[in-house]
Amino acid sequence: MAAVTLRQIEKTYPNGFQAVHGIDLHIDDGEFMVLVGPSGCAKSTTLRMIAGLEAISAGDLLIGEQRVNDLAPKNRGIAMVFQNYALYPHMNAYQNMAFGLKQLRLAKSEICSRIEQAAKNLDIAHLLDKKPSEMSGGQRQRVALGRAIVRKPDVFLFDEPLSNLDAKLRVSTRIGIAKLHQELKEVGQQSTMIYVTHDQVEAMTLGDRICVMNDGQIMQVDTPMHLYHHPANKFVAGFIGSPAMNLAPAQLEYIDQQWVIQLGEYQWVLPASVTQRLQIRQSKSVWLGIRPEHIRPVKSNERTESQVQIHVDVVEAMGNEQYVYFKWQAESWISRVSLDELELIEKGSTQWLTFDLNKLHLFDKDTEQSLLDAS
Ligand SMILES: Nc1ncnc2c1ncn2[C@@H]1O[C@H](COP(=O)(O)OP(=O)(O)OP(=O)(O)O)[C@@H](O)[C@H]1O
Ligand SMILES: [Mg+2]
Repeated sequence: MAAVTLRQIEKTYPNGFQAVHGIDLHIDDGEFMVLVGPSGCAKSTTLRMIAGLEAISAGDLLIGEQRVNDLAPKNRGIAMVFQNYALYPHMNAYQNMAFGLKQLRLAKSEICSRIEQAAKNLDIAHLLDKKPSEMSGGQRQRVALGRAIVRKPDVFLFDEPLSNLDAKLRVSTRIGIAKLHQELKEVGQQSTMIYVTHDQVEAMTLGDRICVMNDGQIMQVDTPMHLYHHPANKFVAGFIGSPAMNLAPAQLEYIDQQWVIQLGEYQWVLPASVTQRLQIRQSKSVWLGIRPEHIRPVKSNERTESQVQIHVDVVEAMGNEQYVYFKWQAESWISRVSLDELELIEKGSTQWLTFDLNKLHLFDKDTEQSLLDAS
């Protein structure tokens, strides 16, 4: 059992490139923390520093109460699973998983029961006598996961462990990992998990909290729901959520004792639900943000303050919903419309859509920080 604390951690590679710029992050004992961010933002670098596979250039890394900057990987109480984790080719799956446990001098019965449990969890019981060469990539990856799990480490580190699996296996293995985390908690053997992924769904469903990174810096750390509903800045707003939040330059004005958002030639009075949370007192250039699900077709006989007529460029029908792409006020927009609510919207058609102004996000045009109180 161990918390993990990063204090002003920096990484400069030998070629002089600074990949990590002084990050602070505390992961509670037993917490499931997901690291997300675009390719090259230093997720793996951060994870590898925690693992001890990469030297830390500056700052302190604590596991539990202990500063471990200079501790060898094997003494840190961690287990890692990477995207391409090599199994021992001459051993079958059972032997691969048992290997580390034998070194710990565990009783044979204990080794056997741990492997059985993990095999059940990961649906690999039928593979235990197979060698890596006789398994698919996805099966090998699940054995690699099993090998980490059976060690019952204090801290699990995962670097995109599911990215080589096909869509269906990704889902079942993802659920397996979530179950494992929960089960360990229930039997009082909670493990701290740090999980790197590109995948929005993995981040949203697995994480107790999500840490969003960009360019070697932390942009926001929060619960999945809070990140989605209260992004602290434009970067997080655009990164979390799929399809992404619409973001457009606009002008926020205080006119006749009312807050008005001006978008091209359109002016809308902001509702109290938004203005009560406004952190500024003067007019400002802003980024207006609105999620695709908050732009919806106007119902027949309905009139709203913020309805606009648009020309549909493209429609993507996803079965239960449709993504409607259109250009408006020199910007590209996307609206997400449930398919059972309305008939399929046709490409090339003209539609009335309405913006739910209660759901607006506003970011400072220069600093890109949210202008709304998140509480
Ligand atoms: N050994 C190295 N020497 C110099 N630069 C490196 C080295 N390893 C990584 N980098 C650089 O550090 C930055 C962060 O790399 P890292 O692999 O941590 O990114 P990442 O967030 O894991 O990306 P991805 O999602 O593509 O896996 C990148 O710009 C990368 O080019
Ligand atoms: Mg990586």
